[in-house]
Amino acid sequence: MKFTERMGLIADIHANLPALRAVLRDAEEMGVDRMICLGDIATLGPHPREATDMVRQSVDFAISGNHDQLAANPARLHTIQATPTQKARRTKDLIDWSAARISGGQRRYLGSLPRTDVVTLADGTSLFCCHGTPLSDADSLAPDADESDLWALLHEVSADLIAAAHTHVPMLRRVGDRLLINPGSVGLAESTAPGHGCERCAPWAEYAIITSSGGGTSLTLRRIPYDTREVAEAAREAGMPHAEWFISHFSGAGG
Ligand SMILES: [Fe+2]
Repeated sequence: MKFTERMGLIADIHANLPALRAVLRDAEEMGVDRMICLGDIATLGPHPREATDMVRQSVDFAISGNHDQLAANPARLHTIQATPTQKARRTKDLIDWSAARISGGQRRYLGSLPRTDVVTLADGTSLFCCHGTPLSDADSLAPDADESDLWALLHEVSADLIAAAHTHVPMLRRVGDRLLINPGSVGLAESTAPGHGCERCAPWAEYAIITSSGGGTSLTLRRIPYDTREVAEAAREAGMPHAEWFISHFSGAGG
């Protein structure tokens, strides 16, 4: 029997609706059959409500990112950070703003997402999904990590494929006999040199497609251009805190 299934992977949307729309449009054109979200849906950008609704409508299942837990329960952030840095204070302001804008139903949805999940693709291939690492939504499977360090974090996961996000950097690596894929970030794709953190956002949205068929599995990283001026204007109009700081991260979007 001949069959093909295309599974889309999106992550780190961060309340950026123009980027999410661009990815979903491309996924439709690419013939994606099912869609998984690896978390970080509603915070940091100007569209907390709209992004949450669109993810709920568009994905077959989602798992929780660290920001989803904070959007659902922002009081956690106050208890975590005893001596916040300036960056941490900005992040807290933006999470508080996002949390105040989402509805009770959206808050419950974000708070109810599982931390990990396993899905079986049409050809029987198993896919383990997490946001950061199998054990933590705040730690990372870094693209420049030694294979032995990654293996220490992944060897107890028995799935054929492992999908993780959180770094905002796309990755495709072989670790032991597993394949590890990170789809990058839909809403805050990073274009900074390694080691400099997310200081500059790229004018494109990232996601991935896993194609499985009787003939094998292929992993594709997609990079989709979109109009970053739209998200910059929305940040100003929405009255979100630190809007100019947020806009300054997008190349050419400051206007
Ligand atoms: Fe994120």
